[in-house]
Amino acid sequence: MNEASVNLEEAGISEGIAEVIVTTRSDAGKPHAAPIGIITGINEEEIKYFVKLYKGSRTLANVLETNTLAANVTDDVVVFVKAAFEKLNENYFTSFAEMPVLKEANAWIVFTTALTVESSEYFRFQLTSTAVKVNRKEVKAINRGRNAMIEATILATRFEITKDEQGREEMRKEMERYADIVKKCGGRREKEAMRILQKKCPFR
Ligand SMILES: Cc1cc2nc3c(=O)[nH]c(=O)nc-3n(C[C@H](O)[C@H](O)[C@H](O)COP(=O)(O)O)c2cc1C
Repeated sequence: MNEASVNLEEAGISEGIAEVIVTTRSDAGKPHAAPIGIITGINEEEIKYFVKLYKGSRTLANVLETNTLAANVTDDVVVFVKAAFEKLNENYFTSFAEMPVLKEANAWIVFTTALTVESSEYFRFQLTSTAVKVNRKEVKAINRGRNAMIEATILATRFEITKDEQGREEMRKEMERYADIVKKCGGRREKEAMRILQKKCPFR
């Protein structure tokens, strides 16, 4: 494996899909943040990183303009909900390697992007890391409330674009289950995130 792959594991991006906050900027320099999965593909010889960006998002428009994105590694579920459903204001951002990044993130990885696939629904880009900074190393046990909160946030972004009523009804049930898990297993941050999500997302 090459040097870059070791560095990214150190920065919290390992095999599978890492859910991060991707920060981008427009050509005019306006920062933007959204939750996105960084896909890590490994075979015997090499390690590759990708993102799949669904059409219609600001993140995709910015990546097409600048060929750059930054992955912000954080487990703060409040930031995931806010980045999915609000515009984060300028106070959330600082600058690293000429990219907007989130001040509070545990690690930042700046990537250049190369378009590899365009389908009717999404663009897929291969990522090459150009700058990495680990701000904090944290040891945390698995928390079902935190994991459920991430699932609930993804579900909420899909609920918004699901049209058929049966599909929406199933999603409502799934969301209730996640809310129960957050209530039982989550800490204050997870409960705060669920409160925000329930206000933002028209699940009821
Ligand atoms: C945990 C999580 C992971 C997500 N991963 C992706 C992803 O890999 N690709 C994508 O296009 N959208 C993903 N989404 C949905 C986007 O964050 C959401 O559509 C967001 O509003 C992007 O739009 P924007 O760039 O216009 O803000 C994810 C959402 C969540 C909560």
